[in-house]
Amino acid sequence: MFENLPQLPADPILGLMDAFRNDSNPNKIDLGVGVYKTEQGATPVLESVKLAERDILELEQTKLYIGPAGAAEFGTAIQSLLLGENHPALADHRVSTLQTPGGCGALRVAAELVKKASPDAVIWVSDPTWGNHIPLLGDTGLQIKTYPYYDVANHGVNFDAMLETLAQAKAGDLVLLHGCCHNPSGADLSQQQWQAVTQLASEKGFTPFIDIAYQGFGTGIEDDAYGVRLMAEQLPELLIASSCSKNFGIYRERVGSVIVIAKNAEQARANGSQLARIVRGIYSMPPSHGAAVVAHILNNDNLRQHWLGELDSMRQRIFQLRGQLLAQLNKKDASSDFSFITQQSGMFSFLDISPAQVQRLRDEFSIYMTGDSRINVAGVNSHNIDYLSSAIVSVL
Ligand code: LMR
Repeated sequence: MFENLPQLPADPILGLMDAFRNDSNPNKIDLGVGVYKTEQGATPVLESVKLAERDILELEQTKLYIGPAGAAEFGTAIQSLLLGENHPALADHRVSTLQTPGGCGALRVAAELVKKASPDAVIWVSDPTWGNHIPLLGDTGLQIKTYPYYDVANHGVNFDAMLETLAQAKAGDLVLLHGCCHNPSGADLSQQQWQAVTQLASEKGFTPFIDIAYQGFGTGIEDDAYGVRLMAEQLPELLIASSCSKNFGIYRERVGSVIVIAKNAEQARANGSQLARIVRGIYSMPPSHGAAVVAHILNNDNLRQHWLGELDSMRQRIFQLRGQLLAQLNKKDASSDFSFITQQSGMFSFLDISPAQVQRLRDEFSIYMTGDSRINVAGVNSHNIDYLSSAIVSVL
């Protein structure tokens, strides 16, 4: 049965965790997988999450099935977090929301819905995009095409080229956009650029599909949802895949949601029933615990404020680290310009060095990042910043 299946190489992102763990160099630095880290290099459970878990342990009455759509209180809370309390799409009942196992589950379930609705649809993804987008979306059989996004020469978005290519997208196609904190580049669309893409979607009839996995890590919890809220208001249809892994630090609990905005309430109900059927045919229903924690935090004023404070501290720390890393690099090599590091947002930036230089950092200095030179800025701290910046400069 299985003899034709060869062994596959390690995942380009997750494989870094094992490689780092097995490295015995005491100076090793992990800038690989996108998880928040403290000054001590730890990824602790947030205090707000611990408090919510204690409440749930006390209050939970049953372990009965929660159904394919997940918990209603989670769905209501998460759609308000993304769209804002009084969004017109919510008032018009145009929204169907399902709890999913992580943002990955949301992306896949959304793609399965597209496959049912429009089997020949093309999904346009940014070049580059997060490494797992292509397997998650492409494994449904939908066709994937790319649009230009990151411009290495300017270390920013090549917006003219992006718009020019997206003008070829047709009604029935999807355009995958990163809601904020673009993974892997850290280069985001400005509000004016979001408006221009919304206008283009309206003219051409393509459907935007927003992946938002870092809400709160860019400029703040409300501002980071600008593109989502704008498109949900101005366009008849929109797909959103969201993740709570990073902003609630709840990675292994697998909490995400798929949100589909339809042109009217009747279609939204139909979409909800289709999503539930898709989920029933894959994993039947999502796990409960992580989403119960998120719903409890969002629906409790004190816990919500506590969590927002913790999220703000994570965001500000990464912002400060960007400045500190730039200062160290400038001190060690005044001739190279790394100023883009402070202009980007979220956990990631490219160093924009070659794969051979990335390999040298790994082989000679035990510094781990993905092969495209993406660094997780949260992996920098006061203990490793000197070693890190000297190493980067030495491979330039
Ligand atoms: C990342 O990009 O490092 C994270 O989203 C983790 C993952 O699953 O790849």
